[in-house]
Amino acid sequence: MPGKAPCKLGVLVSGSGTNLQAIIDSIEAGQINASICCVISNKADAYALTRAKSHGIPVVIHENKGFTDRQGYDAVTVEILREYGVELVILAGFMRILSETMVNAFPNAIMNIHPALLPAFPGLHAQQQALNYGVRYTGCTVHFVDGGTDTGPIIMQSVVQVEQDDTEDSLSARIQKAEHRTFPAAIKLYVDGKIKVEGRQVRII
Ligand code: GAR
Repeated sequence: MPGKAPCKLGVLVSGSGTNLQAIIDSIEAGQINASICCVISNKADAYALTRAKSHGIPVVIHENKGFTDRQGYDAVTVEILREYGVELVILAGFMRILSETMVNAFPNAIMNIHPALLPAFPGLHAQQQALNYGVRYTGCTVHFVDGGTDTGPIIMQSVVQVEQDDTEDSLSARIQKAEHRTFPAAIKLYVDGKIKVEGRQVRII
């Protein structure tokens, strides 16, 4: 009997794309039964686009110039994702807040990675927020995206120790290493059908 068809991913990026790279590597290593149908960037110069192209993945530059509201921008994103037949949307360093237009189009099918242990330190500069607060441990969180900022049901978290002499850069680098393990692992659970969402609770079945 043939295996299940690979889950079609659409990855949204804004920057360097190290998480995108980790996902590509896991798929190419046969660890995740998925294919990346398109990478969409809101920044024309995002290095993530170079990474995608070098693996033969179609890229779309979708800048926010010319859009007066989030809904209008997101409606076009949804059209692009539908065109490519995307089933699961991955926010891999996508630095825009999504409107209900996107969230309603892909209910519990948009995953984000955040560089802190949510609900601590949501929003921008999560690593600096953690340093300012003086926590001993921080980390990363993979969660489904709902209507709030970094508030959706939590799928997976990894803990990272904060060192006494950490700077925002050194802490970010350590968190990123954890992200590169955690994000592919969370995507694998989803594509293998092992995630069940009950309200805020994500059950691994
Ligand atoms: C990652 O560290 C991710 O956690 C963060 O952006 C970085 C992107 O790196 N995302 C957010 O802060 C979202 N609020 P990458 O482009 O190298 O994957």
